[in-house]
Amino acid sequence: MPAATPTQTNAALMARRSQAVARGVGQAFPIFVARGRNAELWDVEGRRYLDFAGGIAVLNTGHSHPRIVEAVKAQLDLYSHTCFQVLAYEPYVELAERLIALAPGHFAKKALFLSTGAEAVENAVKIARSYTRRPGVIAFTGGYHGRTLMTLGLTGKVAPYKTGFGPFPGEVFHALFPNPLHGVSVEDALASVETILKNDIEPERVAAFIVEPVQGEGGFYVAPKAFIAGLKAIAERHGILLIADEVQTGAGRTGTWFASEQWPAAPDLIATAKSMAGGFPISSVVGRAEVVDAPAPGGLGGTYAGSPLGCAAALAVLDVFEEEGLLARAQALGERLTVGLKAIAAGMPAIVDVRGLGAMVAFELAEAGDPKRPDAELTRRVVAEAARRGLILLSCGTYGNVIRILVPLTAPDAQIDEGLTILAESLHAVQ
Ligand SMILES: Cc1ncc(COP(=O)(O)O)c(C=O)c1O
Repeated sequence: MPAATPTQTNAALMARRSQAVARGVGQAFPIFVARGRNAELWDVEGRRYLDFAGGIAVLNTGHSHPRIVEAVKAQLDLYSHTCFQVLAYEPYVELAERLIALAPGHFAKKALFLSTGAEAVENAVKIARSYTRRPGVIAFTGGYHGRTLMTLGLTGKVAPYKTGFGPFPGEVFHALFPNPLHGVSVEDALASVETILKNDIEPERVAAFIVEPVQGEGGFYVAPKAFIAGLKAIAERHGILLIADEVQTGAGRTGTWFASEQWPAAPDLIATAKSMAGGFPISSVVGRAEVVDAPAPGGLGGTYAGSPLGCAAALAVLDVFEEEGLLARAQALGERLTVGLKAIAAGMPAIVDVRGLGAMVAFELAEAGDPKRPDAELTRRVVAEAARRGLILLSCGTYGNVIRILVPLTAPDAQIDEGLTILAESLHAVQ
């Protein structure tokens, strides 16, 4: 890949950006991109980077996968928009058929498409309320569900997402997400759900639990199977639905198409977005047919919801997963990353945990090896130093002390190892 001709500079573009773009739209790095291919990026100054962030979990199939680009170009030549609620098109139906065939649960399923992850979550909640005719939703501490008002209400972390944007919709409650590293056992978490059902809202008024199979923004904490089994038991006892927010875990990241395929109980509704279309904005709600069908015609949809370009891209992503064996690759990549990170951690007490599911892998940094003393400052320094050395990483976690790896599943092993080497060097340089 030839470097871009450096006609612009990052600094000049940052200066223009600061004059014209809203301050509230954050930016992790003062870098402007010129081109991307698979796991590599080049900025406007011609500098190469390895992309271990994947545009926040969107690029499981890498930047501009030729198969996906080709599918979108072909779709563009036919039509780009009709609004599915006005004039329908086959790719939408085909995508629904393929996703319901993949979704867990031995029951009839249906799907609908939206544009963003937050919209998928909003619609999952609307559908759950419509089906159960109940208002309440129970989400979890540290969870992240999006930036619209309902999804902010569901989100279990205040700064920076919720600050100054309330009031949020009512009838939303937060139970504890299990986190043994930080002293919350599965029993504690399930007990906190029961406490809400005793103290805050009667179970007969709760429509759904919404839970991420692996908390994404919250710090890559994996929901233990025993927790999901316990939650499902409470849900069944009270006629409460289980919604899996798979916006970050979905689309093959964890080694199965839906992470909830690995759950001991199938969710009633699954929200996905991000990597399902390799960089094109489309999201979905897939679930139990009778639940998805609860809202009356006209109750669901949106002008761009399930756009033909998004559908074409998502179908191509599914093809690429099959053709390139990317689910197996996610498992192998996850193991390679975990082994590599554990080797780095062995000589570094600041790394207090390496964890993940499939290729959704992260490590946590704390002072003096004490998980109770999260080291957000060290985390910031590592991320900045890695970028200086050509590796794009993202932090996450309630305390900003977790570094997550969301490198394309299509990245060659040599680039995975190159990234791990840069990461180790960066850690040593800033400790
Ligand atoms: C678990 C989860 N849910 C919902 C969202 C919101 O998705 P979007 O930013 O596409 O609205 C995100 C985004 O990071 C997410 O990780």
